[in-house]
Amino acid sequence: MDTDLVIVGSGLFGLTMARRAAEDAGARVLIIEKRSHIGGNAYSHTDPETGIEVHTYGAHLFHTSNERVWEFVNRFTSFTNYVHRVYTTVDGVVYPMPVNLGTINQFFSAAYSPDEARALIASQAAEIDEGRADENFRTKGISLVGEPLFRAFFEGYTAKQWQTDPEDLPASIVSRLPVRYTYDNRYFSDTWEGLPTDGYAAWLERMADHPNITIMCDTDFFDESQPYHRDALVGKVPLVYTGPLDRYFDYSRGELGWRTIDFETEVKPVGDFQGTSVMNYGDRDVAYTRIHEFRHFHPERDYPRDKTVIAREYSRFAGRDDEPYYPVNTDADREKLLAYRELAKDEPKVLFGGRLGTYKYLDMHMAIASALSRYDAIVGPYLRGEDGAQ
Ligand code: FAD
Ligand code: NA
Repeated sequence: MDTDLVIVGSGLFGLTMARRAAEDAGARVLIIEKRSHIGGNAYSHTDPETGIEVHTYGAHLFHTSNERVWEFVNRFTSFTNYVHRVYTTVDGVVYPMPVNLGTINQFFSAAYSPDEARALIASQAAEIDEGRADENFRTKGISLVGEPLFRAFFEGYTAKQWQTDPEDLPASIVSRLPVRYTYDNRYFSDTWEGLPTDGYAAWLERMADHPNITIMCDTDFFDESQPYHRDALVGKVPLVYTGPLDRYFDYSRGELGWRTIDFETEVKPVGDFQGTSVMNYGDRDVAYTRIHEFRHFHPERDYPRDKTVIAREYSRFAGRDDEPYYPVNTDADREKLLAYRELAKDEPKVLFGGRLGTYKYLDMHMAIASALSRYDAIVGPYLRGEDGAQ
């Protein structure tokens, strides 16, 4: 085979690894991708009716403070000056998120100074008995921000995300809840933030566009009817695997828990549905967790003024055939993960990477940073045939 490296999965981890291997080591890289398009979950498509860019797998906001990542991504795309802000609707009123002084003053119809608000929240948080805080997510949450704020802004949203009563969720899922005692409602605090000017698909395609990189879409690594499947490749060619870790080992140590998301996408016959890109819904009796309105990610674009695309987002536990989105990370999951890591050590010339391959939530900049550093430490030296590389 005239391939020096096979990469399973064309998400940002796989693409970054491919790019480095092709450019730095001159390696011939083959990427196999199960889906019919590249880019993993960062991919976006153009809605045919409106021309609006839709983030196919949920809203993706790029942000980083990592200079190397910023320089790397800017080789393939420029970024707009979009700054992300989120609002939430609770009990018929819209508030700015994350919970900040504006949220608090609106909620209590007050004009507290930062110190006054801090004192109020501290006194409300103190109402939960010492020692009860670690009982469950609800008691923990109240011990952090007090009952009124917890109920309005954290309880319902979290219950919907986890499909579980807050009393039945472990206290350990939270060590702090975000509350800011200023009016700053900028969602991210990283040095750089923005959206790819020509869209995600264009960015991802430019990353893949290199004479040494070949991509095969609609190709499943576990499909034995195609030549590039697991048993035909492992041990014979170096592999980077970015699919689900448990799937690679035929679930032999059990299934790792994931949450998934369902999107209900709709074109609305109005120019502006909600006035902002992301609106959360904190009430438990509203089934969705949030609504995205994609036109607001690109106010600089010339989108139609009489139509808009929205997506309602619903959260639930993932079955084996669902898209795995967020690791659940129970104690049982952690045990299985350790067992899989042991198995992974014995796989010849296979590197497990990315969010699925390591069972870790990674933001885009983290997936890229991880691929850059694991290329430097492991894949690069190996491809260049350096002594000591495994
Ligand atoms: P992925 O993008 O998942 O790529 C893995 C690829 O492997 C996929 O294309 C998959 O089809 C392929 N694959 C899997 N199994 C096989 C197989 N058997 N054979 C062949 N191919 C296979 N990050 C941010 O920075 N900002 C955000 O706002 C943000 N929002 C997000 C919202 C949601 C709902 C989700 C789920 C993630 C979000 N992220 C965000 C994270 C971002 O999506 C990840 O950082 C990024 O996708 C990680 O890239 P990856 O290559 O590790 O994984
Ligand atoms: Na997101």
